[in-house]
Amino acid sequence: MPSPFYITTPIYYVNARPHLGHAYTTICADVINRFHTMITGDTFFLTGTDEHGDKIMRAARKENMTPRAYVDRISALFRDLWPQLNISNDHFIRTTDPGHCAVVQTVLQKIYDQGDIYFSEYEGKYCFGCERFYTDRELVDGKCPDHQTEPETIKESNYFFKMGQYQQWLLDHIRQHPDMIRPERYKNEVLAFLREPLDDLCISRPKSRIKWGITLPFDHDYVTYVWFDALLNYVSALDYPDGPRFKQFWPVAQHIVAKDILKPHGIYWPIMLKAAGLPIYQHLNVHGYWNVDQGKMSKSLGNVVEPLELKTIYGLDAFRYFLMREMVFGLDANFNEEALVQRINSDLANDLGNLFSRVVTMAHKYFSGIVPESDPAIEQELALSMDAKCARTIDTYCLEMDRFAFHKALAAVWELINQMNKIIDVTAPWELAKNKGCRPRLQTVIYNLLEGLRVISGLIHPVMPDTAATMQKHLGFQPGQPFFKMETIRKWKLLAAGTQLPKSTTLFPRVAVKADAAQDSAPDGGKTLHPPLKDEVALDDFARIDLRVATVLSAEPIPRAKKLLKLSVDVGEPAPRTVVAGIAGAYQPDELVGKQVVVVANLKPAKLMGVLSQGMLLAAGTENETVVLAPERPMPPGSAIK
Ligand code: ME8
Ligand code: MG
Repeated sequence: MPSPFYITTPIYYVNARPHLGHAYTTICADVINRFHTMITGDTFFLTGTDEHGDKIMRAARKENMTPRAYVDRISALFRDLWPQLNISNDHFIRTTDPGHCAVVQTVLQKIYDQGDIYFSEYEGKYCFGCERFYTDRELVDGKCPDHQTEPETIKESNYFFKMGQYQQWLLDHIRQHPDMIRPERYKNEVLAFLREPLDDLCISRPKSRIKWGITLPFDHDYVTYVWFDALLNYVSALDYPDGPRFKQFWPVAQHIVAKDILKPHGIYWPIMLKAAGLPIYQHLNVHGYWNVDQGKMSKSLGNVVEPLELKTIYGLDAFRYFLMREMVFGLDANFNEEALVQRINSDLANDLGNLFSRVVTMAHKYFSGIVPESDPAIEQELALSMDAKCARTIDTYCLEMDRFAFHKALAAVWELINQMNKIIDVTAPWELAKNKGCRPRLQTVIYNLLEGLRVISGLIHPVMPDTAATMQKHLGFQPGQPFFKMETIRKWKLLAAGTQLPKSTTLFPRVAVKADAAQDSAPDGGKTLHPPLKDEVALDDFARIDLRVATVLSAEPIPRAKKLLKLSVDVGEPAPRTVVAGIAGAYQPDELVGKQVVVVANLKPAKLMGVLSQGMLLAAGTENETVVLAPERPMPPGSAIK
């Protein structure tokens, strides 16, 4: 019986919108989950949102919303994003779920009853960004290393978890399970933390200061510290303590996190599990940061990259491939759109895309798209050894995937792709086709290449599920055939001779390489078709149109009108105007507030979806994107466009 598999992402804070960093971790989890689904039947993939604490309460207040309404809104942004990135999570947990809150209270009570939690007065330095106390040792130049701000001194009575007494146990456990935290550099980092004495952990916050949290079951004047709450999601989502999922999946738990939250996952969490009498997770898989211009991408620094924007410009599978191929799991990587374009053009369009279209096109040209028969004697004579090549690739791939070395697993697949491209060059099927006597050779070469493509389509499935499905369709497989199983992929000569193949297709169009790839490259290689020019107008006619600079004061969606936003704009008049604009697909309402735009100010007012629009906003658009026009520098609202 193959072992079940359980993978989790961090549950993300709902104090800001999802960005590339969140997308990366979640795509990693999706890839490893799909990989294990190919090997075993039983997998469970968990993601979700972390919704309690001071940070969230402050974010809600800033938006003039109740914490409840605010967390509902932002949590939905994460939940709704994942299907758009082909994320196949089995469950989405929120720390505000009643079931989760009950589990947190049960565990707190258990640990309290056994005497591992005590009450004490404490004065310490508190970072509001991290929502925790810092020791002087941890501060850098007196500041929080994460937020670069000086912590505030707070004196209050709180509950403490006796973490210190588990220090030796944790050291021993990590030494006995050397690959518990991986890659190794992060295990060493945790061991380095543990060389210093481990302080007890303050696990409460008085309700006089923070109300938005889970009440301590043994003292209703306190809520629990967000990390104590958040980490328990990994077991509450499995219906700890009695759920069948908990029994099945907890023994094989693996987490993925970035290095920012190594300490809570590498130290607090195993000790919490130990204190609660639960088995320790199997692996903590830690990756590095995506940086932008050499600095960490983060919501607080405001340099975030939007995953959906990249999907729209480059296509989802190309985006997923780039993330998995470019970053060495465990190390930092710099996000760079030129590198993305480069990878699409060389690895996807050139190597894989060309191989696929060459082979399928030849199958159509020489055999009318009917899979030919292969002759084993000729395979030997030509020393094709495609079966051995594929078997080797599959072995390396599985080994590397299993240890989260996605870039190496993909490199192994690309080695096979390059070998196959060479086989075409060396065997020169177009020459074989000229000679009737070479027909059996031609058949054998094409059949083996088609089989190689079939193996490749299986191996790329975890990273590029849509492309894998397209390839398989063009190799004559019916949708839904039980084909994404490793044991099926390993079978050689699965493709039946005589199968009719559908017409070939382009897997990855090349992307135009330009200075600013973000704005200039379209998925069709920059050859966007623009609408034909309209009829000439006389200057006088044009001069009758009054264009003005306006500032967006507020923006909101219009119910049941997916594409429209209702804007209130300042056009330099005593009262703001309402303008309806068809840009909801391109902008979030919040992004527009404060932006300057250009409006047609003397357009006859018209009702759109029940809203009276007093003007029209100018925007540039192609099939793929829409961008509002703005003055090059800020101008007073009402300034005329001349
Ligand atoms: O820490 N590069 O939530 P969070 C790579 N709620 N990954 C990045 C990244 C970047 N630049 N930025 C963010 C929390 N991430 C807690 C977790 S778990 C019980 C509680 C990813 O919203 C990465 O996975 O700050 C990182 O660990 C996580 O987002 C932090 O998300
Ligand atoms: Mg964070």
